[in-house]
Amino acid sequence: MKLTVVGGGSTYTPELIDGFARLRDTLPVEELVLVDPAAERLELVGGLARRIFAKQGHPGRIVTTADVDAGIDGADAVLLQLRVGGQAAREQDETWPLECGCVGQETTGAGGLAKALRTVPVVLDIAERVRRANPRAWIIDFTNPVGIVTRALLQAGHRAVGLCNVAIGFQRKFAGMLGVAPADVHLGHVGLNHLTWETGVRLGGPEGANVLPKLLAEHGDSIAEDLRLSRPLLDRLGVVPSYYLRYYYAHDEVVDELRTKPSRAAEVAAMERELLAMYGDPALAEKPALLARRGGAYYSEAAVDLAAALLGGAGSPYQVVNAVNQGTLPFLPDDAVIEVQAAIGPNGPVPLPVPEPDPLFAGLIANVTAYEDLALEAALRGGRDRVFRALLAHPLIGQYAYADALTDQLIAHNREHLAWA
Ligand code: G6P
Ligand code: MN
Repeated sequence: MKLTVVGGGSTYTPELIDGFARLRDTLPVEELVLVDPAAERLELVGGLARRIFAKQGHPGRIVTTADVDAGIDGADAVLLQLRVGGQAAREQDETWPLECGCVGQETTGAGGLAKALRTVPVVLDIAERVRRANPRAWIIDFTNPVGIVTRALLQAGHRAVGLCNVAIGFQRKFAGMLGVAPADVHLGHVGLNHLTWETGVRLGGPEGANVLPKLLAEHGDSIAEDLRLSRPLLDRLGVVPSYYLRYYYAHDEVVDELRTKPSRAAEVAAMERELLAMYGDPALAEKPALLARRGGAYYSEAAVDLAAALLGGAGSPYQVVNAVNQGTLPFLPDDAVIEVQAAIGPNGPVPLPVPEPDPLFAGLIANVTAYEDLALEAALRGGRDRVFRALLAHPLIGQYAYADALTDQLIAHNREHLAWA
């Protein structure tokens, strides 16, 4: 089995390698190719990756290259984890929306739109190359914004599944609180990428007993504290929102906070410098503890599980992924991309039935779906007016004066990445 990681020079990659090494029985990788244009970084990350495999006795070969076509040739699955413009572009996404009093974040609001506009054309180009090289290869997309990028891939007819670690994070956390194995925790997970709610926590599988009320009663304080939301809010919602909902439920509070502290991009950039220095140490042969301060916990396990199930291996039968709606949420278009539990097999994900969400959640899901649709239009076809329409449709923006100002800012800060600007 050959797997290729585009964006393999990411400082995150040792997390992935660690997962491949630990879970080699689930996913027997013979060749792992790390593709990245940043040669120096790729060599540091590739060197550590080889040492992790060697230390854990993994027989797989690790190859590094800057050549996308060479890297994807013969791959059974291609993982996309790239970041167009790097942390510098992220820093921008997190900063200029604040000037309008809007949240500055890399996947939510105006910053998320900027990231989508930079990213969609690049991902579609890579996906075309994958299809030419092997039309049966699966594309697993971690590249944010995952909902919009996955929709772009599926609309263009690619064999793609979008993946995020929010669900697996909750699964692991709840399993710990309940004292059961993670595989025994089945989440009732509904929404769009980075706009989800856990509406049930079932033991043993989709038909198991729902222990969410008990979990909220016994561990509500600690869950609320982790999400930085209030316990009374959690009790009134009766479900567990992802931490991305804080950008909605506590928007102004978040904006005030973001205005006074260094950006996450700056924090991450500092961590990356430290991590790369560590990766250069020939004595290091495991993922360093510092990596746990990044947001990507468990993403390697989610990736291994998904790739194993798609490639006919031993992955879990049900996994939370980004896939096409096809009537699962009847209030959304069939071709919308949603994030829900799906049965995963060699023909891809098939969403499990989802109980109709409370209008409190359905309204926001529908609104953000419309925004994502307009965002994709803007990413595919460009133009100031399409950017404006997407921003005006976003529930965190909505007012024309803000949408106009943010459109100008977005274009000014991203000109070098936008072919049409
Ligand atoms: C979580 C999200 C990812 C996001 C990451 C950011 O893992 O699910 O989509 O990329 O957080 O983490 P960072 O350490 O880059 O802030
Ligand atoms: Mn995510």
